[in-house]
Amino acid sequence: ALITLRQLLDHAAENGYGVPSFNINNMEQVHAIMEAAAEVDSPVILQVSAGARKYAGAYFIRHLVQAAVEQWPDIPIVLHQDHGADPGVCARSIQSGFTSVMMDGSLMPDMKTPSTYEYNVEVTSKVTEMAHACGVSVEGELGCLGSLEKGVTDKGEAIDKEKLLTDPEQAADFVKKTKVDALAVAIGTSHGAYKFTKPPTGEILAIDRIKEIHARIPDTHLVMHGSSSVPQEWVEIINQYGGDIGTPYGVPVEEIVEGIRHGVRKVNIDTDLRLASTGAMRKFLAENPKQFDPRKIFAAATAAMKDICKARYEAFGCAGQA
Ligand code: G3H
Ligand code: 13P
Ligand code: NA
Ligand code: ZN
Repeated sequence: ALITLRQLLDHAAENGYGVPSFNINNMEQVHAIMEAAAEVDSPVILQVSAGARKYAGAYFIRHLVQAAVEQWPDIPIVLHQDHGADPGVCARSIQSGFTSVMMDGSLMPDMKTPSTYEYNVEVTSKVTEMAHACGVSVEGELGCLGSLEKGVTDKGEAIDKEKLLTDPEQAADFVKKTKVDALAVAIGTSHGAYKFTKPPTGEILAIDRIKEIHARIPDTHLVMHGSSSVPQEWVEIINQYGGDIGTPYGVPVEEIVEGIRHGVRKVNIDTDLRLASTGAMRKFLAENPKQFDPRKIFAAATAAMKDICKARYEAFGCAGQA
């Protein structure tokens, strides 16, 4: 059944676990995420970006998720809109049946330019007022994703290093003013595979900042974006079978687990499933040159994604919690 993000994260906080929030845009991803959840008895968050809506179309997304609800009636599922650019985007998601929306007011509607604090409070409050009236949860974001190593935003623009780390005192004021159900924080992670040029230390991945924020606002559910771990085995397989993606580094699973000990309840993952599916398809095609049934190729991708999902459900403690 569909539940709200607030319902799920309240349960996660009471029981001390975190939940991966996987991005979806096709059937194979939904199968992988749901089959893995059914095997380990985990609740699920399916999140949809603007790019996903554009790729699949809003109707197909809605019905893919509805199919999952029907096929796995015993698994609680949150349908979450990722990175809403403005209140209008969130309103349309509420209308189309999402149970949770993210208003990303850390950026201007161009989703590139860092915003002011006042702007963020204003647009996020507008969304919570509207969403809560409809029984829908809201995630806000304070601080900008980006690289502490390079001093640039997610989109590669120069930024004040202090905006790359969420300020605990400002977080307390933000939550009080906006009434968000969950807060995404900036701790040096960024979207995509190229988060760090080397395995990250505390200098460039500030898990300690999570602890400071959680100490200040212990009742707020924290969200980590850009939380793919970028498995080295999949990077190697992609490069070995014709890909050329360099040697990127992600967020180690054990660092995320440390975050979960300090209030992180939702962990956004997109890139890891992209890497696993691409790696599995490249390898399958190289090893089966006579095969041209796409179902066989996609099945290899689904199996690879499913392994990652199961590993995250188990590591984050949500296995057994559905
Ligand atoms: O927020 C970033 C997610 O990984 C979605 O990416 O905009 O390419 O769909 P996308
Ligand atoms: P990754 O690119 O690390 O998977 O992050 C996804 C994300 O934060 C979506 O909102
Ligand atoms: Na989100
Ligand atoms: Zn994100």
